[in-house]
Amino acid sequence: MARRNKIYEGKAKILYEGPEPGTLVQYFKDDATAFNAEKRDVIDGKGALNNRLSEYFMTGLNNVGVPTHFLKRLNMREQLVRACEIIPLEVIVRNYAAGSLSTRLGIEEGTQLPRPIVEYCYKDDKLGDPLVTEEHIAAFGWASQQDMDDILSLALRVNDFMSGVMFGVGIRLVDFKIEVGRVYDGDFQRLVVADEISPDSCRLWDLETGRKLDKDVFRRDLGNLTDAYAEVARRLGVMPKGTTPMSKPTLIN
Ligand SMILES: Nc1ncnc2c1ncn2[C@@H]1O[C@H](COP(=O)(O)OP(=O)(O)OP(=O)(O)O)[C@@H](O)[C@H]1O
Ligand SMILES: [Mg+2]
Repeated sequence: MARRNKIYEGKAKILYEGPEPGTLVQYFKDDATAFNAEKRDVIDGKGALNNRLSEYFMTGLNNVGVPTHFLKRLNMREQLVRACEIIPLEVIVRNYAAGSLSTRLGIEEGTQLPRPIVEYCYKDDKLGDPLVTEEHIAAFGWASQQDMDDILSLALRVNDFMSGVMFGVGIRLVDFKIEVGRVYDGDFQRLVVADEISPDSCRLWDLETGRKLDKDVFRRDLGNLTDAYAEVARRLGVMPKGTTPMSKPTLIN
């Protein structure tokens, strides 16, 4: 058997060359990192859950006409995606104040924002992914004005979709981050949602109890991360079999 060509190994995923030109295999690791990788751990089952959850969200987005890089899930830990030129921005959409927004502006976590707020961070681990404005993005040529219009539209459509899906299972979408990539179709190019959408990249709070069901459980030592992610998967009906031991019986109603 030929060994696959590893293209990139990041903190949470590995990218391998795909079976056809223009495709990649995205492998979801169990590694969790936070605070620009100052805090790290290996969390059993996280990779399989994120693979499933990202598949679920990306498939839903594709189905409602929001283009993504997702092609198909290959197995428990891997999915086939279209290879993109990643725009070097983390695109953050916030519905409620939390995390760095609360810290920067002194707004209490959980405060509803007057409207969704979109922020951009420059993807550079050495710099800690600093917040940038559209001025920086235009001046340094990270994205064109057309790209920025498309990115904003994608981000808000993802927000509407994800907010609705999560609300349907009793979860508040506080905020999330996406990455956007460029793909070429013949003479045309377009932007698609890339990377992953999972509890690693969203803040998800239970609507009734406020329980955190996202990576803050790891960042803030709030308990078992896999239990939190498995709860999201269970509510969405995408709980992978045999990956996550149930810590306690689940009431089915
Ligand atoms: N469809 C795609 N085509 C090309 N690259 C992609 C695609 N989807 C995601 N990526 C890139 O693959 C990498 C995924 O790995 P991972 O998320 O572990 O990286 P990371 O450690 O978070 O580092 P980074 O700062 O680069 O995101 C990211 O760099 C992401 O930008
Ligand atoms: Mg990443």
